[in-house]
Amino acid sequence: MKVTLAQPRGFCAGVVRAIDIVERALEIYGAPIYVLHEIVHNQHVVEDLQQRGVIFTEDLVSIPPGSVTIFSAHGVATAVVEAAKENNLQVIDATCPLVTKVHLQAQKYHRRGDELIIIGHSGHPEVEGTRGRVDGPVYVLDSVEEAEKLEIKDPEHVAYVTQTTLSIDDTRDVVAALKRRFPKIHGPELDDICYATQNRQNAVREMSKEIDILLVVGARNSSNSNRLREVGEQNGIIAHLIQDTKDLDSSWFTPQSRVGVTAGASTPEVLVQGVLNKLRDYGVEEVQDLDGVKESVSFRLPAMLLRAELQQK
Ligand code: F3S
Repeated sequence: MKVTLAQPRGFCAGVVRAIDIVERALEIYGAPIYVLHEIVHNQHVVEDLQQRGVIFTEDLVSIPPGSVTIFSAHGVATAVVEAAKENNLQVIDATCPLVTKVHLQAQKYHRRGDELIIIGHSGHPEVEGTRGRVDGPVYVLDSVEEAEKLEIKDPEHVAYVTQTTLSIDDTRDVVAALKRRFPKIHGPELDDICYATQNRQNAVREMSKEIDILLVVGARNSSNSNRLREVGEQNGIIAHLIQDTKDLDSSWFTPQSRVGVTAGASTPEVLVQGVLNKLRDYGVEEVQDLDGVKESVSFRLPAMLLRAELQQK
């Protein structure tokens, strides 16, 4: 049995920044720190922070007034920002800067008088945050069929933005369908699908030529991890999304298996290494790294956090 490790895989710059923000806030302000929604979609990350005094919640009402409160990497709606102000919460915004870019694009289109379409998964926190940044009707869709059926008021004034963690191939098809339906539609091409999503999907596509089973280490509610599994399947590979070693099943493998391993953008490397160790127990002798893109993207921390750190020194 042979293993190929995807490159790149795992943490993206937005996730590194979000976790860094929570850890630094713990050092500066001490526990408890409140985080609205899971800081990133990974149970292991969340449980580790919980043990250090972070309280995760889905609603602002449960947070005592004045508390230090962090918005997760997925971003929030304008109404949430306003409600936090009313409750006198000390907010630190860990929204990924690439999600903020989508918010600004959506608002720009709305100001111009365009009806807005979000290509993304309804109910996902990022999509709901983007929807809530626009004061007007927003259509959310994620398939060519929905794009074909969509009825809008004025086909001359319409624009789209995309969720950052979609499948590049699927989104290309949806954008093409929208352009056929509404030739004057404005949008950012595939630019909103972030560099980390693109690189991880490209690595799986590349790896699919030399593997017959793909393991994606990631949470079930992680959009980008689910998309990695789909990219594997679209390339004819049997693909499993596993949270950690507990989800592995030895019956998936034979001594001849060529296994690819990747990880979603919110998956810590320690979980990937745990999976590799388990695969060695199953008889893996050879582990090779895919020769992929080396990422060097990093995002600045929020100014208020940096100021608070300086004041403490
Ligand atoms: Fe941001 Fe892309 Fe990661 S949008 S949180 S860098 S997957």
